[in-house]
Amino acid sequence: MKVSSARYVTSAVDLQGLPNSGLPEVAFAGRSNVGKSSLINCLVGVKTLSYTSSTPGRTRCLNFYLINSSFYFVDLPGYGYAKVSKEMRSSFRGMVESYLCARRQLRGLVMILDGRHPPMASDLALKDWLMHKGLPCRVVLTKMDKVRKGEWVESQKRAASSLGLDKDKILLFSTTSGSGKKEVWQAIGHMLQENEVRGTRKDEGRATVCR
Ligand code: GTP
Ligand code: MG
Repeated sequence: MKVSSARYVTSAVDLQGLPNSGLPEVAFAGRSNVGKSSLINCLVGVKTLSYTSSTPGRTRCLNFYLINSSFYFVDLPGYGYAKVSKEMRSSFRGMVESYLCARRQLRGLVMILDGRHPPMASDLALKDWLMHKGLPCRVVLTKMDKVRKGEWVESQKRAASSLGLDKDKILLFSTTSGSGKKEVWQAIGHMLQENEVRGTRKDEGRATVCR
């Protein structure tokens, strides 16, 4: 996809703070520090659009970025960050769950995992929850520049088998090389085209949504 414009719109701390333009949205979720914000920046080609940091737990709100004046990328707070207090963690979680459940214009979720490690319990829990809710999702393994090329297929297989998905459905990505960018954009393009607003979405109610 050709990105002609990308701009930060707002950060929401609750459902009242969400933009109300009705434009479609694609959300990015994953453990803290996995590379969600970096992936967004790399996809749109603007290094400083979403704030990135080597300190985990940086993204603490739902951050909305308007792309090509036609859809939003939503950078979600990361999960599994131990240094955030218990109360804060449960408030993040409540907010993110409410958003994922209630947002009619949400077309799907990009679930991001660190390609160096097998999926963790929190990743598996998110994937099961998404299946249960019937929200389309695609899985991206990032930081692949830190994995030897000869081990890429093994990383893909390992993630696929833990998550119960077909190996070819796991996309490989690196922000430093930009490898996998085309494939991730393709997956996002499909989500935006195929999935009608929630309630009329074609696959509503089906369990096979992590495509
Ligand atoms: P939180 O907002 O804290 O949950 O983190 P995040 O998931 O948004 O991660 P972020 O994009 O801030 O990246 C975390 C760290 O990983 C930063 O130091 C990035 O430079 C680094 N990083 C992200 N993606 C890649 C990648 O593909 N390769 C390498 N080598 N480093 C990456
Ligand atoms: Mg972030």
